[in-house]
Amino acid sequence: MANVTVIGAQWGDEGKGKIVDWLAERADAVVRFQGGHNAGHTLVVGENVYKLSLLPSGIVTGTLSIIGNGVVLDPWALRDEMAKLRGQGVSITTENFALADNCALILPIHRDLDGLRETAAGSGKIGTTGRGIGPAYEDKVGRRAIRVCDLAHLDALDAQLDRLCAHHDALRAGFGEPPVDRARLITDLKEIAPFVLEYAQPVWKRLNKVRKAGARILFEGAQGVLLDVDHGTYPFVTSSNTVSGTAASGSGLGPSAAGFVLGIVKAYTTRVGSGPFPTELEDETGQRLGERGHEFGTVTGRKRRCGWFDAVIVRQSCAVSGVTGIALTKLDVLDGFETIKICTGYRLNGKVYDYLPAHAAEQAAVEPIYEEMAGWQETTAGARSWADLPAQAIKYITRVQELIETPVALVSTSPQREDTILVRDPFAD
Ligand code: IMP
Repeated sequence: MANVTVIGAQWGDEGKGKIVDWLAERADAVVRFQGGHNAGHTLVVGENVYKLSLLPSGIVTGTLSIIGNGVVLDPWALRDEMAKLRGQGVSITTENFALADNCALILPIHRDLDGLRETAAGSGKIGTTGRGIGPAYEDKVGRRAIRVCDLAHLDALDAQLDRLCAHHDALRAGFGEPPVDRARLITDLKEIAPFVLEYAQPVWKRLNKVRKAGARILFEGAQGVLLDVDHGTYPFVTSSNTVSGTAASGSGLGPSAAGFVLGIVKAYTTRVGSGPFPTELEDETGQRLGERGHEFGTVTGRKRRCGWFDAVIVRQSCAVSGVTGIALTKLDVLDGFETIKICTGYRLNGKVYDYLPAHAAEQAAVEPIYEEMAGWQETTAGARSWADLPAQAIKYITRVQELIETPVALVSTSPQREDTILVRDPFAD
């Protein structure tokens, strides 16, 4: 049975929520495999708007939803998000929700450290979501994390807490902060443990079982390839691998499980936080894209930086992530522009680049080379077939497809589920 892996192919916020929700209706399981509650997925279903940060989008449709081991889990944030969704009438039970018992936890000390570092960095800051994501991943690879399974053995946690506190106390001292309040940490963990453990299990086992039984699995990526800790605009990235390959390691299924890799691509470009952004527009056009596209972060409410479509980075994302086809989103934001620009390459020190170089200073210095096209005056919002689109909009999509060397599988024309043009069904066998 075909599986689908959805990833963002820019800097996140490409509109993954709607596409995942749309696909989740036909999936038997939806799996988050990396990131944490730094993600922000907005789902619009009829009159209802659901804002998810940690739970897989399938939860809204009642589909089996799984948080895989590659996620860093803030159990308090999970409890809050579950309470909010239940308040909106969403049912979350041990039948339709499970989380990996080997997930590393995000603790209050991680949030502290994230904030302390960002404040101290001043203008050099990464612009993180302040959720403690980076410090939690550091502790995971540093082999001192507290994991979900540890919550069932809190009385035997001394050695691990020694390691964790020794590390954090030294860092905190550097910021003039008192040592970790170990007693408080244990009390907090004891309080949250029963809630977390109710849903904890070896999800790799459950996933392998449903896969063998022929289930269709939807892997829901968070952030985007340009925020990947290896392939992104390092160091202005998140602390996980956001590429499709992580679906396997972050869930406990082998690489063949990824199936159709669907890259979500916005018809223009946005970014939140600091870091290079070659096609950024700090003028009226950028302002117009931001206003028309409602470009404010779901998680932090921050204004997103906006710019023209950058075919170079998307081509690179599709390559490093093995994208089978893309879903192009928010095309209607480009409605009404006299002309539209697409970045086809970069110039740096007299040399032309067809890729984004790895070095941060070079990434910041590249100058985009643009191709200009006539825009369209008609609205594309709500289009459900090619026939509903103006000829110029079709030309734009065709050109994007050529430049990124990857076919368009879907075009999304509004936040509503039904407003989608389907070219190739990612779930088709
Ligand atoms: P962190 O993931 O909170 O450590 O933030 C690192 C970088 O990733 C910052 O530039 C954030 O703005 C960005 N980031 C993290 N999550 C998202 C997301 O879901 N959408 C867009 N950007 C994100």
